[in-house]
Amino acid sequence: MCGIVCYCGNRKAVPVLMEGLRRLEYRGYDSAGFAVIDNTQGLVVEKKKGKVNALEQSSINKHYDASMGIAHTRWSTHGEPTTINAHPHKDCTGKICVIHNGIIENYSILKEELVKAGHHFISDTDTEVIAHLIEQYYKDDLELAVLMAVERLNGTFGLAVMHEDVKDSLIIVRRGSPVILGVGDGEMFAASDTNALSNYTNRMIYLQDDDIAIVKKDSYLIKNLRSEIQEREIHELNEIEADVDKAGFEHFMLKEIFEQPESIKNAFRGRLIQSEGVSKLGGLEPVMERLKKIRKIILISCGTSYYAGLFGRYIFEHLTDINIDVELASEFRYRKLKIDEDTAVLAISQSGETADTLAALKEAKRKGALILGIVNVVGSTIARITDAGVYNFAGPEIGVASTKIYTSQLVILTLIGVLIGRYQGLSYIEGASLVAALKKVPKQVEEILKTAPLIEKIAKKYSKFNDFLYIGRLYNYPTALEAALKLKEISYIHAEGYAAGEMKHGPISLIDKDFPTIAIAPDDLVLEKMLSNMQEIKARGGMILSVTNESAKDVIDMSDDNFIVPKTIDILQPILNIIPLQLFAYYVAKERGCDIDKPRNLAKSVTVE
Ligand code: AGP
Repeated sequence: MCGIVCYCGNRKAVPVLMEGLRRLEYRGYDSAGFAVIDNTQGLVVEKKKGKVNALEQSSINKHYDASMGIAHTRWSTHGEPTTINAHPHKDCTGKICVIHNGIIENYSILKEELVKAGHHFISDTDTEVIAHLIEQYYKDDLELAVLMAVERLNGTFGLAVMHEDVKDSLIIVRRGSPVILGVGDGEMFAASDTNALSNYTNRMIYLQDDDIAIVKKDSYLIKNLRSEIQEREIHELNEIEADVDKAGFEHFMLKEIFEQPESIKNAFRGRLIQSEGVSKLGGLEPVMERLKKIRKIILISCGTSYYAGLFGRYIFEHLTDINIDVELASEFRYRKLKIDEDTAVLAISQSGETADTLAALKEAKRKGALILGIVNVVGSTIARITDAGVYNFAGPEIGVASTKIYTSQLVILTLIGVLIGRYQGLSYIEGASLVAALKKVPKQVEEILKTAPLIEKIAKKYSKFNDFLYIGRLYNYPTALEAALKLKEISYIHAEGYAAGEMKHGPISLIDKDFPTIAIAPDDLVLEKMLSNMQEIKARGGMILSVTNESAKDVIDMSDDNFIVPKTIDILQPILNIIPLQLFAYYVAKERGCDIDKPRNLAKSVTVE
């Protein structure tokens, strides 16, 4: 999922574009490029395979006298990560250039037609088709040519177009992929997310599907595909939403792990009413009457957010009388599920832009379900298309491997469970004890973070292994899945998360002295069962590193190494148990010299299906 950034103003465009690319790089880092209209040389394009730094190095001595430009950082979908396939792409005349985030599904048909019409293609990308299509329709009216080209495109796009002869304006189009306009004083910006712009302005306009914006330095016009003017609201970002620096940490991921006491507090700030043993979620109030009557909730999401959903199932089963399903969003839309107005579909997403989750939500909406969201990015598409929802208020998460958002999602799922549960069978006492336990969690996380040096020491010891099994039971089965994903994502080590009870039905065959097991075995109601599974591993010479509580002496004695975490109530223990495993993955990846914030082949927000 690529990142686009555009500028039109009085400043030198290249430094603004490069800063934007650096802030968008977590969206894709296969190649990067920019195009500006230089006052003497006209349209110039610079692009390079690899990270933004490579582009910076290759263009460092080129000073362009330009105050308007577009730039792109790429996550390859069509065509390998090469300089040729890097954006921007130009047409045959070399006067039109485009950058694009998304996928043109009918690009091969269009390309065939354009080749027949005499166009000459240079790259293997779907995007280059757009430049030639605009060229095909261009008769000195760029807006009209873009409109006609867009009519022919199937797929998703956050698109920016520039023409060498149109020196004062850019054309920006959105369908599916996120695009935000940034309103400055005498200057205008556009980008795939607010991070790229928040150091220049906090006034943001979220373009909607099929919006086409004509952007000049001191004005903008938003139209629909019938050229009718569209009014769009300007949103003012607050401090939390604008902060994107490492605050002295070596990596964003480590910073975000250490931000969890604060991000967990933010997740329940002003949302707990101890005296009534209940939670209060303003974002759900508009639909509360309908939510009280809901008989089924389907949680939909992807990746780490999916594992939060799996935890959510246990929470809702434990706290409410509602039927719960948890579905992978990328599978959901093809399922024949019974969905009606008594069903709520709750999407969980950090970015609020994940294409699979968006498509699943649209399917649920079509079937008349109440569609809700737990989202971190304010103003994102999922936040805007749902009937109601809850923001994480955790601030930007830049590290591609999600950490603070996972624990924040677990907290918010708990708040929703308490909210609904207290309208059903959940008693005041049960609600109040859960609220009390939740309030203690930030301090308990601080205690765990203090053990980071010990975790680093143990991680170094295990960093030589190439295979890991993570096991957990009940509430900690999702913890095992999420912890394994963290290690896979940033260290490229083969790691499998498994329900501990399943191990003897197959994966135990993998166990030997070179295949350590991470056992998530807190002192809870399934401890005895976990101990038997750990004995089965020890019996086969397997090493065990466990996450447990001081009181679980047998676990501590049986394990080769232990991460001791404070004890909370069983259902909230997964929020604490994941912390040392996030740090373990981080330190293993660091020991192996991996690019932790930008792991290979990944991107932070997956805006294509
Ligand atoms: C998690 O570390 C990954 N970045 C990825 O699995 C992510 O959770 C998934 O793409 C879902 O993203 P979302 O929460 O923004 O929808």
